[in-house]
Amino acid sequence: MQNIWYNDKFLLDFLSASELENYNPSVAHAEKLLKDRSGPGNDFLGWLDLPKKTGKDLIKSINDKAQEIRSKADVLICVGIGGSYLGAKAAIEFTSPGFEDLRKPRVIFAGHTINSDYLSDLLELVKDKEVAVNVISKSGTTTEPAIAFRVIRQWMEQRYGKKGAAERIVATTDPAKGALRKLAKEEGYTTYEIPDDVGGRFSVLTPVGLFPIAVAGLDIAKLIEGASQAYDFCSGDSIETNVAGRYAAVRNILFRKGYTTEVMATFQPQLHFINEWWKQLAGESEGKDGTGIFPAGLDYTTDLHSLGQWLQEGVRNVFETFMILKKTSKTMTVPKFDDDSDDLNYLASRSFEDINEKAFQGTMLAHLDGGVPSATLMLADRSETTLGQLFYFFEKAVALSGYILRVNPFDQPGVEAYKKNMFALLGKAGFEKQAAALSSRTKDISI
Ligand code: PA5
Repeated sequence: MQNIWYNDKFLLDFLSASELENYNPSVAHAEKLLKDRSGPGNDFLGWLDLPKKTGKDLIKSINDKAQEIRSKADVLICVGIGGSYLGAKAAIEFTSPGFEDLRKPRVIFAGHTINSDYLSDLLELVKDKEVAVNVISKSGTTTEPAIAFRVIRQWMEQRYGKKGAAERIVATTDPAKGALRKLAKEEGYTTYEIPDDVGGRFSVLTPVGLFPIAVAGLDIAKLIEGASQAYDFCSGDSIETNVAGRYAAVRNILFRKGYTTEVMATFQPQLHFINEWWKQLAGESEGKDGTGIFPAGLDYTTDLHSLGQWLQEGVRNVFETFMILKKTSKTMTVPKFDDDSDDLNYLASRSFEDINEKAFQGTMLAHLDGGVPSATLMLADRSETTLGQLFYFFEKAVALSGYILRVNPFDQPGVEAYKKNMFALLGKAGFEKQAAALSSRTKDISI
């Protein structure tokens, strides 16, 4: 079953059928590099077969622990940053009720910012609630989640005692390495492993994403099943049958023509964090060696009243993918008023989805007319199966697209630059030389 559909037939003014055909060998080559594990970053391809390899035992162990947490906690605090939080956040926002107060248990994220107000508000929010924690870090040493976890761990130990806290903390980290693995062992936390060969931004279908997603009440077996279905329709050498390959080809053709930014435009708020997750996946994978498509996300119709102007008439270096949910979970209609004093009876009895569809059609046609190459990515519904397909589709498309761009999609050397500077400026041992070089340059950029 296929629940997501990519359609590029509106791009005919911007790229021809033969141009697309000509990309078949590039897609086939990228596909071969992945399959043979012979491309750059080939030690980070564990995500590729994950949907086919995830065993029932792991699903059961995660579901059992999630059930235990659900029975004893009102709130799960999930501590992590980047690939260690965005997948779970995206999944929960995609499937759950819009307002956090309607969710039980609530999954709240921390460690993705460095901010006292956020953390202290969080502790205030949970002070009368039963709390559990999932701390997630592959390296086990990332500063943002590590310092947030120190605060939360201290709070948990004061609240539940050392042993009681340990029973409520789950650590997801590298099987052997890193400070978090060491700490988890010493404290006796339940742990889940992030496979060695799966990088952070490709880890949503490992316990990194699966555990908090299961605690939120989603069916993770269906999520994996969806990913496995996408594995099938995102494989093969031909862009006629490989959906991810086709999308990767279109992106690269447009990029070569000077369309250097891809806007992922959504018309439903449940897709906002799918965009955030995709932005990390695409941006960190492709933006290197002086190349890469810049991934941007817009929430329509909200952003049509701000950046919509830019899209319509600004620099013509943007292409747009409209990611659209075909079906919402509920339907509301516009009420009828006999006096019609606001002149809206012409919309009476029409559903918000019907009106939203016209907004989508109107926007896409206007942007095409304004010179923005536009394609669509349709999603059947807000189910776990659709979500699993979507996650895998994007992972595969980004990997293929990265290889077509001739970068290593699986490393992130650029992320280290700020980290090294930060360690030097914080006075971490081993960074003394860099600290001396930086100190005079910081005096005009203080907060
Ligand atoms: O994709 C990546 O590798 C990164 O974005 C990481 O997910 C992020 O930096 C967090 O790293 P860690 O899980 O080691 O704390």
